Amino acid sequence: MYTEKVMEHFNNPRNQRKMEEPDGVGKVGNPACGDVMWLYIKVSDRGEDSVIEDISWETFGCTAAIATSSMITDIAKGKTLEEAVEITNRKVADELDGLPPVKMHCSNLAADGLIEALYDYYTKVGREVPKSLEDKHEKIEGEMDRLEEKYGEYLSMEEELHNSAG
Ligand code: FES
Repeated sequence: MYTEKVMEHFNNPRNQRKMEEPDGVGKVGNPACGDVMWLYIKVSDRGEDSVIEDISWETFGCTAAIATSSMITDIAKGKTLEEAVEITNRKVADELDGLPPVKMHCSNLAADGLIEALYDYYTKVGREVPKSLEDKHEKIEGEMDRLEEKYGEYLSMEEELHNSAG
Protein backbone atom coordinates (compact mmCIF):
# COMPACT_ATOMS: atom_id res chain seq x y z
CA MET A 1 0.00 0.00 0.00
CA TYR A 2 3.00 2.34 0.40
CA THR A 3 5.24 3.52 -2.44
CA GLU A 4 8.87 2.45 -2.67
CA LYS A 5 9.97 5.95 -1.66
CA VAL A 6 7.84 5.86 1.49
CA MET A 7 9.36 2.54 2.48
CA GLU A 8 12.86 3.78 1.67
CA HIS A 9 12.46 6.81 3.97
CA PHE A 10 10.82 4.68 6.63
CA ASN A 11 13.71 2.20 6.60
CA ASN A 12 16.46 4.85 6.32
CA PRO A 13 15.06 7.96 7.96
CA ARG A 14 17.08 11.15 7.34
CA ASN A 15 17.91 13.58 10.16
CA GLN A 16 16.20 11.60 12.90
CA ARG A 17 17.68 12.91 16.15
CA LYS A 18 17.09 15.32 18.96
CA MET A 19 18.92 18.61 18.32
CA GLU A 20 21.03 20.28 20.98
CA GLU A 21 20.21 23.98 21.34
CA PRO A 22 17.86 24.39 18.40
CA ASP A 23 16.78 27.88 17.29
CA GLY A 24 13.18 26.69 16.97
CA VAL A 25 11.15 23.69 18.13
CA GLY A 26 7.75 22.59 16.94
CA LYS A 27 5.78 20.04 18.90
CA VAL A 28 2.65 18.71 17.29
CA GLY A 29 0.58 15.63 17.82
CA ASN A 30 -2.57 13.78 17.27
CA PRO A 31 -3.45 11.94 20.46
CA ALA A 32 -6.42 10.41 18.70
CA CYS A 33 -3.98 8.08 16.91
CA GLY A 34 -1.13 8.41 19.41
CA ASP A 35 1.37 10.07 17.09
CA VAL A 36 3.58 12.90 18.32
CA MET A 37 6.38 14.83 16.66
CA TRP A 38 9.14 17.22 17.67
CA LEU A 39 10.78 19.13 14.85
CA TYR A 40 13.97 21.14 15.45
CA ILE A 41 15.60 23.81 13.28
CA LYS A 42 18.85 25.76 13.26
CA VAL A 43 18.69 29.01 11.33
CA SER A 44 21.66 30.71 9.69
CA ASP A 45 22.13 34.23 10.94
CA ARG A 46 21.75 36.12 7.67
CA GLY A 47 18.89 38.50 8.43
CA GLU A 48 16.35 38.57 5.64
CA ASP A 49 18.16 35.80 3.76
CA SER A 50 18.24 33.37 6.69
CA VAL A 51 18.06 29.74 5.67
CA ILE A 52 17.37 26.50 7.51
CA GLU A 53 20.88 25.35 8.16
CA ASP A 54 20.02 22.18 10.05
CA ILE A 55 16.80 20.33 10.75
CA SER A 56 15.99 17.17 12.65
CA TRP A 57 13.06 15.42 14.27
CA GLU A 58 11.75 12.81 16.64
CA THR A 59 8.46 11.21 15.74
CA PHE A 60 6.54 8.52 17.53
CA GLY A 61 4.16 7.37 14.91
CA CYS A 62 3.12 5.27 11.97
CA THR A 63 5.04 4.49 8.77
CA ALA A 64 3.57 7.49 6.96
CA ALA A 65 4.40 9.81 9.86
CA ILE A 66 8.04 8.61 9.91
CA ALA A 67 8.46 8.81 6.12
CA THR A 68 6.96 12.32 5.90
CA SER A 69 9.09 13.52 8.83
CA SER A 70 12.18 12.27 7.03
CA MET A 71 11.15 13.71 3.65
CA ILE A 72 10.28 17.16 4.97
CA THR A 73 13.80 17.55 6.35
CA ASP A 74 15.24 16.74 2.92
CA ILE A 75 12.96 19.34 1.33
CA ALA A 76 13.41 22.09 3.94
CA LYS A 77 17.18 21.96 4.47
CA GLY A 78 18.86 24.95 2.82
CA LYS A 79 15.56 26.71 2.07
CA THR A 80 14.94 30.30 3.09
CA LEU A 81 12.43 30.75 5.93
CA GLU A 82 9.89 32.19 3.50
CA GLU A 83 10.24 29.15 1.24
CA ALA A 84 9.94 26.80 4.21
CA VAL A 85 6.63 28.36 5.29
CA GLU A 86 5.17 27.35 1.92
CA ILE A 87 6.01 23.62 2.22
CA THR A 88 2.66 21.85 2.43
CA ASN A 89 1.76 18.31 3.42
CA ARG A 90 0.64 17.80 -0.19
CA LYS A 91 4.12 18.69 -1.42
CA VAL A 92 5.70 16.24 1.05
CA ALA A 93 3.31 13.47 -0.02
CA ASP A 94 3.99 14.19 -3.71
CA GLU A 95 7.75 13.91 -3.15
CA LEU A 96 7.09 10.47 -1.68
CA ASP A 97 5.16 9.53 -4.87
CA GLY A 98 1.93 9.76 -2.91
CA LEU A 99 0.35 8.36 0.24
CA PRO A 100 -2.74 6.18 0.54
CA PRO A 101 -5.74 8.53 0.96
CA VAL A 102 -6.46 7.24 4.49
CA LYS A 103 -2.88 8.17 5.42
CA MET A 104 -2.88 11.74 4.05
CA HIS A 105 -3.73 13.11 7.50
CA CYS A 106 -0.44 11.64 8.79
CA SER A 107 1.51 14.04 6.56
CA ASN A 108 0.02 16.97 8.52
CA LEU A 109 2.26 16.10 11.42
CA ALA A 110 5.50 16.90 9.55
CA ALA A 111 4.12 20.00 7.79
CA ASP A 112 2.64 21.36 11.03
CA GLY A 113 5.81 20.54 12.97
CA LEU A 114 7.83 22.68 10.57
CA ILE A 115 5.38 25.58 10.83
CA GLU A 116 5.48 25.45 14.62
CA ALA A 117 9.29 25.34 14.68
CA LEU A 118 9.44 28.36 12.35
CA TYR A 119 6.90 30.22 14.48
CA ASP A 120 8.89 29.40 17.60
CA TYR A 121 12.03 30.78 15.97
CA TYR A 122 10.42 34.05 14.78
CA THR A 123 8.86 34.77 18.16
CA LYS A 124 11.98 33.84 20.15
CA VAL A 125 14.26 36.20 18.22
CA GLY A 126 11.60 38.90 18.04
CA ARG A 127 11.31 38.97 14.27
CA GLU A 128 8.05 40.04 12.70
CA VAL A 129 6.03 36.91 11.94
CA PRO A 130 4.98 36.75 8.26
CA LYS A 131 1.21 36.76 7.75
CA SER A 132 1.04 33.31 6.11
CA LEU A 133 3.03 31.80 9.00
CA GLU A 134 0.81 33.50 11.57
CA ASP A 135 -2.33 32.15 9.86
CA LYS A 136 -1.01 28.60 9.68
CA HIS A 137 0.18 28.71 13.29
CA GLU A 138 -3.22 29.91 14.51
CA LYS A 139 -4.95 27.08 12.73
CA ILE A 140 -2.60 24.47 14.26
CA GLU A 141 -2.86 26.04 17.71
CA GLY A 142 -6.66 26.00 17.51
CA GLU A 143 -6.56 22.33 16.63
CA MET A 144 -4.10 21.55 19.46
CA ASP A 145 -6.25 23.43 21.98
CA ARG A 146 -9.21 21.37 20.94
CA LEU A 147 -7.21 18.16 21.35
CA GLU A 148 -5.72 19.22 24.66
CA GLU A 149 -9.18 19.83 26.01
CA LYS A 150 -10.08 16.33 25.02
CA TYR A 151 -6.81 14.54 25.81
CA GLY A 152 -5.04 16.84 28.30
CA GLU A 153 -3.93 14.07 30.59
CA TYR A 154 -2.48 12.03 27.75
CA LEU A 155 -0.49 14.99 26.42
CA SER A 156 1.16 15.83 29.72
CA MET A 157 2.10 12.16 30.08
CA GLU A 158 3.75 12.27 26.63
CA GLU A 159 5.67 15.40 27.59
CA GLU A 160 6.98 13.78 30.78
CA LEU A 161 8.04 10.64 28.95
CA HIS A 162 9.86 12.67 26.31
CA ASN A 163 11.67 14.83 28.85
CA SER A 164 12.72 11.90 30.99
CA ALA A 165 14.05 10.14 27.85
CA GLY A 166 16.39 13.16 27.54
S1 FES B 1 -1.86 7.15 12.07
FE1 FES B 1 -1.66 9.07 13.08
S2 FES B 1 -0.10 10.08 12.05
FE2 FES B 1 -0.28 8.17 11.05
